[in-house]
Order: sequence, then structure tokens, then C-alpha cells
Amino acid sequence: RWTSSHAKAFAGLNSVAEADLSHFSRILPDSCILSMLPPTSLGSDDLSTYNTDWMGKYKGRANTVLKPKTTAEVSAIVKWCWEKRIGVVPQGGNTGLVGGSVPLGNELIINLGNMSKVRSFDPTTGILVADAGCVLEALSEYIAPHNYVMPLDLGAKGRQVDCMIGGNVATNAGGLRLLRYGSLHGTVLGLEVVLPDGTILNQLSQLRKDNTGYDLKQLFIGAEGTLGIITGVSILTAATPQASNNVFLALPTFNNVLPLYMTARQQLSEILSAFEFIDRSAYELAVKHGQGKALSDEDTKGAECFVLLETSGGKREHDEEKLNKLLESLLEAEEPLVNTGVLSQSPAQFASLWALREGITEAVSKEGKAYKYDISVPLSSFKDVVDLTREHLRKCGLVRKGAVTHVIGYGHVGDGNLHLNIVADQYSTEIQDALEPFVYELVASYQGSISAEHGIGAMKTHALHYSKDDKSIEWMKRIKNLFDERGIMNPGKIYLVDGQPVKFF
Ligand code: FAD
Ligand code: MLT
Ligand code: ZN
Repeated sequence: RWTSSHAKAFAGLNSVAEADLSHFSRILPDSCILSMLPPTSLGSDDLSTYNTDWMGKYKGRANTVLKPKTTAEVSAIVKWCWEKRIGVVPQGGNTGLVGGSVPLGNELIINLGNMSKVRSFDPTTGILVADAGCVLEALSEYIAPHNYVMPLDLGAKGRQVDCMIGGNVATNAGGLRLLRYGSLHGTVLGLEVVLPDGTILNQLSQLRKDNTGYDLKQLFIGAEGTLGIITGVSILTAATPQASNNVFLALPTFNNVLPLYMTARQQLSEILSAFEFIDRSAYELAVKHGQGKALSDEDTKGAECFVLLETSGGKREHDEEKLNKLLESLLEAEEPLVNTGVLSQSPAQFASLWALREGITEAVSKEGKAYKYDISVPLSSFKDVVDLTREHLRKCGLVRKGAVTHVIGYGHVGDGNLHLNIVADQYSTEIQDALEPFVYELVASYQGSISAEHGIGAMKTHALHYSKDDKSIEWMKRIKNLFDERGIMNPGKIYLVDGQPVKFF
């Protein structure tokens, strides 16, 4: 049971007390307040979905969750938190994979789920302005009748996994369409942000071109809620491709991935829209857990890994001709780069082939506890990174003991982004200590990045220096301090608190 006085929360900040709650109830209706404090007195179970991340790896102890409906409400809540030095965690769909969206102690959670209105959509320009709590999938459905698609697409959609556009921007999410439409740093045109002191920064521009000094909105893209709460997003959507095809290619060896990528880019040029890598173990996990329809034994025989290739273009016959020509040249070459290729023949098969790739995340979580490393390394090293990690864990005796059941690799080849996942029977310090700093040092040896697209969150605060030098970290901290000198906004995310990593298990 929570007491009514301020308990010291994480990072020397205050937690929400009864007096704060009564202030919040003057800002929000009761239906938007979830609290364990009197008089509402919910139990911790009632808040557990907000306090626990998607993987069940990170667990916070927030006693209160607020779900404002307007920017003015967010501003009033944050202003109070600033004055009372209450730690705040902005939360969207809570699908983040680095522990950024849940408290590390008992900070207040401000969940954006009730801010879910489309503010405007211009069918001529394709510019969409939406509340930050709009679910990405809902936005896709909203613009589809106008023949537009969102410039990003993630596996975190549908099936009760609903990432939101504010969360996407806050994490600078990459996903499956980055190869085609680029990063959110390019497609986001404007943002509305509530700063840590409650000020509303209105940068909700709908302009494609605007060279009027510093582009402040860029600072909030990928800031993981450490600089303010994004309440509105203006984003450039893309015309729906007139034709989309995909093909699942089985490769005899990983060594063929790079030549295949080069060949596909050359032959398909503007219609190549995705090029995703799946190693054999990742494929088998997806199949085991019912993600998409398994390929026939014949189609997978002798395959070390797979590539899911997608084309999106303006004219079906033209695209199919190009794709068929590519497949012919691949299969008929003297030393074929691929064993087989399964080309989707219907929308259902198109979706099923994608599910084999997109469903890996869910499959991994069903199989066991996932240690996820989302890294940028040279394409040529993808397999080595996975193999070296497996070998290292074997030497540590963890594979033999059965603690680690799978070491798999998949990811966005086109973006140089490998997802190295270790599946184990539990989250334990023994496995964690075996993996870190090993993986980070490996990444650094390739001059890679320890976070390609998921962010730093709470998971990698102690490892930031592997990808950023001291001067860069110093300037990042100066920026953080400029916006949030009281440190209330998402404490313990991106940066260490008091130089100490937090223990999660
Ligand atoms: P949350 O998880 O709620 O929050 C993420 C971070 O953003 C936290 O630090 C939080 O404090 C902050 N935040 C959230 N909303 C706001 C806001 N309005 N203002 C300020 N800060 C905010 N990620 C990829 O990059 N590519 C993928 O392909 C991908 N696929 C995924 C597939 C699955 C099955 C799952 C579970 C996750 C996947 N992710 C992927 C990770 C995750 O979905 C993304 O990071 C997503 O953008 C998070 O959005 P969210 O609304 O769930 O944010
Ligand atoms: C993906 O590409 O599938 C996502 O980034 C999620 C993950 O890494 O599992
Ligand atoms: Zn990814």
C-alpha cells in the first residue's frame, strides 16, 4: 500500500502523493486517472500493464498513471511535476524493447493513449497531422482510402501490440520501410512538444522546406522522452504503391547475402522496397510459433539463411517482369546465389511471407526470455557476430547447461541493422554478464552502433560510450540539462543516474 506522503522516487525525485493526485483531479476527469493512492486505491495489479514492458523484462513501480486527452492537460500535469520535482515517464503503446517506456522506480506515467485524434490530412500533399497517441496501424487505415501509406511500418502492430506515432518518433523507429522511405528524421515535418517545465513548443510545421535556423524538432526525434513529451506529429506520408510483390529466397550460404543484395539493387533499382535477412534458426522459431506458413521442406533444404525481398512500384506488369528476370538470373546462374525462391501469388501469401519475418520478435518471446541486441555492423559481419556470440556463450558453459537455447540473427540488411537475439530460460545476471560487455566490444570492434533503431532506454545506459565519444556524450548531457535541469523527464533513460547502472533482475 502506498502512503500519502511523498516517497523518494528514483533519481532523487519525488513520487506522486495524495496532494498531487488531488491537483491532477482538477486537471483530468476521474476516468483519466489510475492510481493506487487514496481515494482511488487501485491495486498494483491494476497498473501492471503500464508498469511492465512488452518483454516482461523491465518492471516499474508507478503508483499513478495519467491519461490526458489534450495538449493543455499534458502541459498542466507536467508543469506541476516540474514544480514538485516529480519524475515523469512518457508512455505510448509500451512496445519499446529497451526498457524506456516504464519507470525505474515510482515515477508518474503519462500515457498518451487517450490522445488519438487525427488533426488533419491533406490528400494532395499527403501531409498528416495527428495526436501523438494515435496508433500507427490506425493511421495506416485512416490514410489508406486516400491511397497513401505511412512511411514506416513495424512488427509492433495488431495482435494487441500497438505502437503509437509519438512513441515511434520518440524512438526514431526504423522498421521495414526505412530502405524505401528513409528515417523519421526526414519524414517528420513538425512536432508539438510539452517541455519539462510545461511549456508547449509548437513546431507543428507542415512545410517541406523551412531553413529558418536550427531545426529544433530533430532533437526530440529519438530522444526517448528525455527532453519532453511529444503531443502532436506532422508527417509526410507516401503514395500507395500500385503493385507490391514479395519473394522468400533460400540461400545455401550466408556468403551469398551480399552479392544477392548487390544484384537485387542493380536489377530492381527503384522498385526494391525491402531486403530482410533471416537466419535458419530465426526462421525455424517463427515457424514453430505459427508466424506465417512454413515453406515446404524442398524449398528450405540445404538453406543456411533466407532473404525476404519486396518490390513496390507503379505498374504491376513492369515490376513482375523485372522480378521474374531477377529470379531467372539467380536460379539459372552457373553458381546460383539462391537455392529456391517462393514468390507470393496472392495477398494472403504476401502477408504470410511477411509474417515469417515480422513474427520473429513474437516467436522469440514465446520461446523464452529474450536478450535483444539491435546493432549496426557491416553487412559482411552479420554471420560472424552471431557465430562469435554463440561460441562465446558455449565457452561460458551457458549453452551446454541449457540456459541459452538459441542465438539467432535477423534484420534489415538494407539498413546494415542486425538483430542479434539470445533466447534463454530466464533473465539472469549470469547470462547478462556473459553477454555484456562482450557484445558491445564486438560491435565497437566493427565501429558499429550499439543501437541501430530501438534506442538506449534503460538497457544500454552503461554502454553509451561504446558508440559515442566523451565529447559527444558531454554535449548530449548539456542539451538534456538545457531542457530539463531538474531531470524529471524519463530519468535513468539514455543516461546513467549517479554513474550507476540499474539492476533489473
Ligand atoms: P513506448 O514503448 O511506449 O515508448 C518508447 C520510448 O519512447 C520510451 O522511452 C518512452 O518514454 C518514449 N515515448 C513514448 N511516447 C512518447 C511521447 N509521446 N513523447 C515522448 N516520448 C515518448 N522498433 C523499430 O525501430 N523497428 C522495428 O521493426 C520494430 N519492431 C517491433 C516489433 C515488435 C513485435 C515489438 C514489440 C517492438 C518493435 N519495435 C521496433 C520496438 C517498438 O515498437 C518501437 O520502438 C516503437 O516505436 C515504440 O512505440 P511505442 O508507442 O510503443 O512507445
Ligand atoms: C524487427 O526488426 O523485427 C524489430 O526491430 C523487432 C526485433 O528486433 O525483434
Ligand atoms: Zn528491426
